[in-house]
Amino acid sequence: PRVVVLAGGISHERDVSLRSGRRVAEALRSAGMEVTVHDVDADLIPALTDTHPDVVWPVLHGATGEDGSVRDVVELLGLRYVGTGPRGSRVAWSKPIAKTVVSRAGLSTPDFVTLPQSLFRELGAGRVLEAVVARLGLPLVVKPSRGGSALGVTLVRDAAALPRAMVDAFAYGDTALVERAVTGRELAVSVIEETDGPRALPAVEIVTDGPYDYDARYNPGRTEYFAPARLTEPETAAVMSAAVEAHRALGLRHLSRTDLILDEAGVPQFLEVNVAPGMTETSLFPQAAVAGGLDLPSLYRGLVTRALA
Ligand code: DAL
Ligand code: MG
Repeated sequence: PRVVVLAGGISHERDVSLRSGRRVAEALRSAGMEVTVHDVDADLIPALTDTHPDVVWPVLHGATGEDGSVRDVVELLGLRYVGTGPRGSRVAWSKPIAKTVVSRAGLSTPDFVTLPQSLFRELGAGRVLEAVVARLGLPLVVKPSRGGSALGVTLVRDAAALPRAMVDAFAYGDTALVERAVTGRELAVSVIEETDGPRALPAVEIVTDGPYDYDARYNPGRTEYFAPARLTEPETAAVMSAAVEAHRALGLRHLSRTDLILDEAGVPQFLEVNVAPGMTETSLFPQAAVAGGLDLPSLYRGLVTRALA
């Protein structure tokens, strides 16, 4: 089949997406497929109607890619595509909404509040932040409600650092998520769908000597990964079933990656899920696939075949 990989785009994660898209395209070509990579811009609709591919694979990270809008366009054009539909993408893209949905499905997720920037204008930063600390305590993690690759994310140990963290989060959107920081092991669990439903790939454990920030994610050597993660059998079972449960509860399709903390009591604490997980050399999804004994060309070809089914 002929595949168009959509990459790049206009989000803050444009560079990462171009790298991911290139890797996916290379793997699909080596699996014998005809692949074009399209850098998403205003010509998206003519590009897709002219080429009329059998399958579109949106390897777009960040807004327009993971928020469902480009997937809306692809659906509108009646094309088949790899991955979650527009509705599931929108739900997953909003961290507060995703956390609410998975917690209703029985998963644990760190306590949080969602703060619109307008609240700061109405009540003043001092009052708002005091109430947040009174409710959630410290340390806290401040994030843009919608975002990726840890951009705008700060671990806050001291209340004095909160205003600056809020400014960084609001740089990426007008709503911030403030959640209780949970200590434990940082894990990413990728899920793929096969004929008998979604299944988790081996968990990948992330070990950094500082925050797992943008730099630690994409510069080889900055982060140590354990794939599979160093977990006991019950821990492995718990994190794998949490990721599959999140995938199901959020209505995701074909592939996803759930990021979580395995807390000190051994409970997986859901942080977020990605409908377009990074596919770069240092990314977690391909590492999980390899740890699971899968080769990337066959895995990606399998996902394209599912999209055609
Ligand atoms: N947002 C990046 C690409 C990831 O989750 O891997
Ligand atoms: Mg993410």
